[in-house]
Amino acid sequence: MSREIVTWSADEVLANADRLAAVYGVAFAAYGETDDDTAAFRHRSLPTHARRDDFRCVVVLDDDELIGFGYGYQGAPGQYWTDRVADLAPPAVVRGWLGGHFEVVELAVLPASQGRGLGGALHDALLADLPHPAALLSTWQYDTPARRLYLRRGWQPLAELPDATLMGTRLPFGAARPA
Ligand SMILES: CC(C)(COP(=O)(O)OP(=O)(O)OC[C@H]1O[C@@H](n2cnc3c(N)ncnc32)[C@H](O)[C@@H]1OP(=O)(O)O)[C@@H](O)C(=O)NCCC(=O)NCCS
Repeated sequence: MSREIVTWSADEVLANADRLAAVYGVAFAAYGETDDDTAAFRHRSLPTHARRDDFRCVVVLDDDELIGFGYGYQGAPGQYWTDRVADLAPPAVVRGWLGGHFEVVELAVLPASQGRGLGGALHDALLADLPHPAALLSTWQYDTPARRLYLRRGWQPLAELPDATLMGTRLPFGAARPA
């Protein structure tokens, strides 16, 4: 068995969209995501996101089996998430964090493979050596493995949006981590 983290190009992501959606559907089912949500991810979000500036996708392969992935891109005005944060976050947060940021969009590991450090390894590979000044994401407002993972890695809660916590970390990521 050989387990490895590799980076997929946008073209590789689109060629493997069904496999990514399968992982997404199982990983997020526990959070109420439906088959329709997974179809929207597969057919709308992923093809749109894969073409954005500085798109980066990292995946865990176990031999040839896809067991987890994470991706993001450079956020920009005109995109739904960045515009929403600009509208809803306190002005000081918008001024201090938004603009040229890397948006962490998804991180998912198959439930059977969770709790072994793969989510953390994907997170670190996704942020490694990014040239952006900061990374941002939104996550659940209650305690979840994802929220714990981000807090453990030094992400700061920046603002409470109506349905999510906005978190940020300065980049380069390694430099921002506690010793
Ligand atoms: C968030 C997610 C990607 C984390 O994946 P993961 O592979 O389980 O992540 P890790 O194994 O690195 O860390 C998870 C837990 O396992 C623990 N762990 C890591 N390696 C371990 C090991 N070798 N032995 C025992 N425990 C370990 C971590 O300390 C962590 O514990 P904690 O949550 O109590 O702090 C996964 O839970 C997931 O897919 N969730 C659903 C989708 C989701 O929420 N995505 C994020 C949206 S914002």
